[in-house]
Amino acid sequence: MNAAHPSRRIYVAEVVTRDGFQSEPQFIPTTDKIALIDRMSEAGYAAIEVSSFTSPKAIPMLADADAVFAGITRNPAVEYLALVPNVRGAERALAARADAFNLVMSVSEAHNQANLRMSREQSFAQLQDVIRLARDHDTPVNVSLSTSFGCSLAGPVAPDDVMHWARRFADLGVRGISLCDTTGMADPAAVGALCERAVAAFPQLQITLHFHNTRGMGLANVVTALQAGIRHFDASLGGLGGCPYAPGATGNICTEELVHMLERMGYDTGMDLQLLLACAAQLERLVGRTVPSQLLRAGPVPTVALS
Ligand code: COA
Ligand code: ZN
Repeated sequence: MNAAHPSRRIYVAEVVTRDGFQSEPQFIPTTDKIALIDRMSEAGYAAIEVSSFTSPKAIPMLADADAVFAGITRNPAVEYLALVPNVRGAERALAARADAFNLVMSVSEAHNQANLRMSREQSFAQLQDVIRLARDHDTPVNVSLSTSFGCSLAGPVAPDDVMHWARRFADLGVRGISLCDTTGMADPAAVGALCERAVAAFPQLQITLHFHNTRGMGLANVVTALQAGIRHFDASLGGLGGCPYAPGATGNICTEELVHMLERMGYDTGMDLQLLLACAAQLERLVGRTVPSQLLRAGPVPTVALS
């Protein structure tokens, strides 16, 4: 992609069954997770992050990742991703036939310790082994850099630190990097500046932006990322989501709101908004409460004259 003349095609990755369900107070039954993924698989997503192969003690709500992967009906047009924190997780993800790995570590040392119980250097060493294993199995690797825009444990995160870790992973030949605003601290100016740096420094990488709407800046951040040439975004159906190990973390940007906004702006998401809204309504019944999505309440902006 040429950053000066980027295309209007946007690639959306759904994270509700991973980022969303990991922080739900109640365990969502495996069969319900599978049914939701199967329905979402027809909505036009580029990717669905199905679950995470983490320690069931760390993330009990996703302890059924193996069964969820085994139960879903795969649409060949969709990439089914697994979040992987270590070699053990990678082995499980390979056995589950995940299409690609989403590795995770934090730019903030404090959050890496809280979330993964190891230093960033320890994470990097383990993830190097994971990347080797993935290469042996022709499995593409994306690395999610958590707390790229700030940390609720340590405060500000320097863009130079984000670039440093992105560079180290780029040098290992990964396919992509996600810049993750785990804590909803990114603002549109900071996003534009970091995205421009990342796009210029890593033209070979697929760069994804992962926003949480904790402070109401989520979709504004998408707009400045678009202006910087970013075309891959994570989002969560209904706006669920949040890291259990980042104090105060709340939901991701909402998929149906992202798609609705992008389509109105003339971008092509390839997604079926009506089906997304139906999935979001199903999700609301699953979690048994109102989800953050404002679009689910208001409905899309009318495109024909109302009589
Ligand atoms: N899958 C399943 N079990 C795993 C595992 C994996 N990927 N990695 C470790 N375990 C198990 C170990 O076997 C061990 O089990 P035991 O107590 O029955 O012997 C236990 O988990 C602890 O293992 P250890 O290697 O000491 O890990 P830890 O307690 O230091 O935790 C992580 C490290 C990375 C496994 C854990 O912190 C984790 O899974 N974090 C994920 C956090 C996350 O997903 N956050 C949200 C997304 S950003
Ligand atoms: Zn997240």
